[in-house]
Amino acid sequence: MILKKSEEKALSGEYGEALQSAYRVLLAIARLTNAKRFVPIDWAHVSGVSYLTIGDYGLDFLRRISASKAKFKVFTTVNPCGMDIECWNELNIPSEYAEKQLKIISYYQKLGTANSFTCVPFQSYSVPNAGSHIAWAESSAAIFANSVLGLRTNRESAVSALAAALTGKTVYSDLHLDENRKPSIALKLSFEERESHPEKVRKRKFSGPLSFGLLGYYAGKHTNGVVEFRGMGSRQTIAEQKALCGALGTVGSTGMFTQGKTTGIEVLDFGNKEYEETLNEISDSETGELIVFGCPQMTIEELYELSKSLQGKKFQKKCVVFCSSKVYETASKRGYSSIIESAGATFVRDACADFTPLISSLNVDSVVTDSVKGAHYMKRVHGVKTALLDTKEIISGNT
Ligand code: F3S
Repeated sequence: MILKKSEEKALSGEYGEALQSAYRVLLAIARLTNAKRFVPIDWAHVSGVSYLTIGDYGLDFLRRISASKAKFKVFTTVNPCGMDIECWNELNIPSEYAEKQLKIISYYQKLGTANSFTCVPFQSYSVPNAGSHIAWAESSAAIFANSVLGLRTNRESAVSALAAALTGKTVYSDLHLDENRKPSIALKLSFEERESHPEKVRKRKFSGPLSFGLLGYYAGKHTNGVVEFRGMGSRQTIAEQKALCGALGTVGSTGMFTQGKTTGIEVLDFGNKEYEETLNEISDSETGELIVFGCPQMTIEELYELSKSLQGKKFQKKCVVFCSSKVYETASKRGYSSIIESAGATFVRDACADFTPLISSLNVDSVVTDSVKGAHYMKRVHGVKTALLDTKEIISGNT
């Protein structure tokens, strides 16, 4: 490992305890991954923002770091927190939770983060040139960065991304190197449009967040390393790309996908059988009491589509829509949010759809969503059953 003089000094504690700990974290990862050096980054994205995920230990850890002289050295965004920062009271978030959540936010602000609270950071901030090195936690965003935006990041943990933000560097290993960005396994889409549930007369078409989410989930479970998708078509919507990346990062350790036809690698099939098996594995309810959209948080493109399909309609049950404040602001200016709200939906800004006490406070036994990642965590975090349906099915069946 080649260390610069300044890095050696930081490791010896000359620049304070926080920076020393940050470099120690990076050095430990460098040793584990046989890295020869660190690499400067253009952007850090830190997870571990919801109090539900980091608890009192994380809260205290952040308090101590923010009380030091340390500051983030590069542009840093943070993941969603656990509540709408402005409207938490109206949404019945317990005040004990809110108090701790607000403290976490203030510690991050003190360290110098942008007020992003988003898991789709590429949506509201300008993205550096393809090939740039970044350090993003939040698996769905990291996979999107590598696979769609052509940026270079490993799937950072909350701690390693924090260390990267404090030092302005990350470990030069794995997906930062050309040789590790090649696919080692392929998944071929061999999906036929047909009646897959004849008794329910449901015709499956491979499109939309649900289909791409199921493909990503299956790939995450059955592959490792960089996965190549075949037969997906040359254009996907941002909603489909996001759903694919979100579900791919939910299970397994894959940090990137490609599309192509690499020779000499193992090829697995993803057809109707795999689609249905994956759907049945995650979806365990026929309907849901609460409609949830926005895991990962909704983009402006998705809010536009949602507003179009909700024109003049009313939800017959509660519906919550998760997005960042920045995206909500744009949606308000363009008139999308008022259409969605007129249909009876409630926006929850800056929060994560899964790591929030909101679902428990709404006291629901089951939700309906088009997000495979959301369904996975809904069950694991809240013990809530999920009906996984296509976006159009959700709207047509509930308005
Ligand atoms: Fe985003 Fe939370 Fe889903 S961080 S990807 S809304 S689990």
